[in-house]
Amino acid sequence: MKKLVILISGRGSNMEAIVRACSREGWPAQVAAVIASRPDAAGLAFAASHEIPTAVVDHREFSDRESFDTALIHAIDAFEPDLVVLAGFMRILTPGFTDRYAGRMLNVHPSLLPSFAGLKTHQQALDAGVRLHGASVHFVTSQLDHGPIVVQSAVPVLAGDDAAALAERVLATEHIIYPRAVRWFVEGRLALDGPRVTLTPPEPQWLFADINSNKIAGEGV
Ligand code: GAR
Repeated sequence: MKKLVILISGRGSNMEAIVRACSREGWPAQVAAVIASRPDAAGLAFAASHEIPTAVVDHREFSDRESFDTALIHAIDAFEPDLVVLAGFMRILTPGFTDRYAGRMLNVHPSLLPSFAGLKTHQQALDAGVRLHGASVHFVTSQLDHGPIVVQSAVPVLAGDDAAALAERVLATEHIIYPRAVRWFVEGRLALDGPRVTLTPPEPQWLFADINSNKIAGEGV
């Protein structure tokens, strides 16, 4: 049984999707804890209501990134996780932190990386005039919002979209690809080969939103 620790900063809808998929699909895994960087993170209530241990490492109580990351490591390692899952965890992490969990920490980022790292990714996509946007699940490295990509989802940018509409379309795909990526990890199917992630046995590591049926379809077929 693999142990997961999920880190959140706010709403926690990706965490929720992972918790639900883990129990619905009977993964060989258990969500050992949900840890938030803020005491008011809404996702903490969902975790507690599912009898998942929760903890808060409040970033405002630390004067620098190093001391925050040291406290966070302490909180995470108490649960001895096999995988650390960043799910809307809005903190820049120090290299000491990312090195410690190298090859066993995933993140979801709301853009088709390597485009649009950082914040306000949906507005960045609109400003750049791209016609396809999406989300990426990747292994975390010391480079912010970069690292070997496990799976990506693509959605169209439609006339009249604003950042909120685009965010909603992308988020619906995050809730599919992130649980899938975590499941692949706990099943021991992911291998890192330099910048590439291989999945054995192979499955599509991408997903396209089918805007005509307003459903998620494609999946590389
Ligand atoms: C998600 O869209 C996630 O991709 C993004 O924050 C949102 C969190 O939503 N993460 C980042 O921007 C990280 N760079 P959630 O709390 O409902 O999962």
